[in-house]
Amino acid sequence: MIEDKRIDLNNLPNHVAIIMDGNGRWAKNRGEHRIYGHQHGVKSVRDCTEAAAELGIRYLTLYAFSTENWSRPKEEVDALMELLVQTILAETPTLNKNNVRLLAIGNLRSLPGKCFEQLTEAMADTAKNTGLTLVLALSYSSKWEIVEAAKNIAKDAMAGQLDIETINDNTIDAYLTTKDIPHPELLIRTSGEHRISNFLLWQIAYAELYFTDMLWPDFNRAAFFEAIVDYQTRERRFGKTSEQLTS
Ligand code: FPP
Repeated sequence: MIEDKRIDLNNLPNHVAIIMDGNGRWAKNRGEHRIYGHQHGVKSVRDCTEAAAELGIRYLTLYAFSTENWSRPKEEVDALMELLVQTILAETPTLNKNNVRLLAIGNLRSLPGKCFEQLTEAMADTAKNTGLTLVLALSYSSKWEIVEAAKNIAKDAMAGQLDIETINDNTIDAYLTTKDIPHPELLIRTSGEHRISNFLLWQIAYAELYFTDMLWPDFNRAAFFEAIVDYQTRERRFGKTSEQLTS
């Protein structure tokens, strides 16, 4: 049941992307180690996935580990990878129960073997689900993705498989790791930071941006609904005037 009656179920974003930020500060506020914040962040992941699935949103993409996050202290990186493995393992039955399909984008081969294997297994286990698609961005950065796309476009052009004159927006889309995923209409970032941090730069060209001061472990079901309500107040003009939209 959707308890937030302000939500218009006929005006939902098809794809919501989230920059989950503030785990470290949340833990520090409690005199705890950063990983304590990440552990509590899992509850917010669960809450948002459930809320998105219940609303009937088709795609939810979570920025779980960026290319830049590899430069954090080894202890934190190891703990995050372990948390990912454990969470994926523990949550796969619930994903299946809720008809959620798991996908991942990023340089997945750079993940520790155990993490890569667990992820691949969970993706295969949930591949047939037809409800929400939960996309985890892991070892992901937009610049990495665009560089990879540029290399592959150049290779295909050199091999004569791609005519340079025909390259357009759709060609670029087809070479990104998100090629089968529609662009997000709503991007949420928690923790009061107003940055995009190398996340889906191409794909958010027309997304609505929603920033909240809440730290990620505090971001719950009600907060997710609040972001949707705010999205529904926006007028999405795509470069046109208000008058053009109503005529
Ligand atoms: C940002 O907070 C958060 C991350 C880099 C990791 C996000 C990971 C999780 C929520 C845990 C598991 C996720 C899944 C999908 C199972 P930060 O550490 O940058 O916080 P700070 O800015 O306060 O230091």
